Amino acid sequence: MSLAGQDEKTRDNIEVMRSTRRELARLATSLRQHLSYQAIMGLEWLPSKWATTIKAQPESMDEIRVDLGECIRCRLHSHRTHIVFGEGNPSARVVLVGEGPGREEDRMGRPFVGPAGKLLDLIIASMGWRRQEVYICNVIKCRPPKNRDPLPDEIEACGPFLRRQLQAIRPQAILALGSFAAQFLLSSQQPISRLRNQVHQFEGIPVVPTYHPAYLLRNPLQKRQAWKDVQLLLSLLHKGDS
Ligand code: URA
Repeated sequence: MSLAGQDEKTRDNIEVMRSTRRELARLATSLRQHLSYQAIMGLEWLPSKWATTIKAQPESMDEIRVDLGECIRCRLHSHRTHIVFGEGNPSARVVLVGEGPGREEDRMGRPFVGPAGKLLDLIIASMGWRRQEVYICNVIKCRPPKNRDPLPDEIEACGPFLRRQLQAIRPQAILALGSFAAQFLLSSQQPISRLRNQVHQFEGIPVVPTYHPAYLLRNPLQKRQAWKDVQLLLSLLHKGDS
């Protein structure tokens, strides 16, 4: 076989392996859900040892990433350089959720590494953590062209992955950065100015919405309000500690 033919065969094999891995992750997820359901329904032939094991093992971040794969679920895949899945401590006490990757994030495949990210790093430090101690992710995982707002069908396609990430981490609190994150998590249409400065809930996890760091860069006078939101979130954690 020619060299070009061998290359093509290798590429085909890699693609088959990737799609098999994705299919296996999907099967594992639906099997887990099915067995959990059967266990809850009290199915007698299900060995109780299994049921305990299944309940004790929530989906891992790696499984979610494998399931996301080289996503083509919405149009944003055709413009992206990298998927920005999220990063940080998968057992973090706090998750910070932004809107979606910008230019730098798309280039590097990491969340909040551009100018807004520098401010976010300061906010995280002001909370007493290092970046790697929290978890940072976004509502959508691919950069919209020219940094336009994400469209409803893009949020609908990508949102379930954020939901699964939050279910896997089950943090003690979520800081929602900007209106897209807050509105997605709270199923609300209210502007961020109305949602902030309060504690809401996402599937039983407290959520504090605040202004997006990019907005704070353009409106530095609002940093004082964001600081109040951060204090509110910290007070929840301290309450949980005592
Ligand atoms: N803005 C966001 O909302 N998320 C990022 O990751 C970067 C900028």
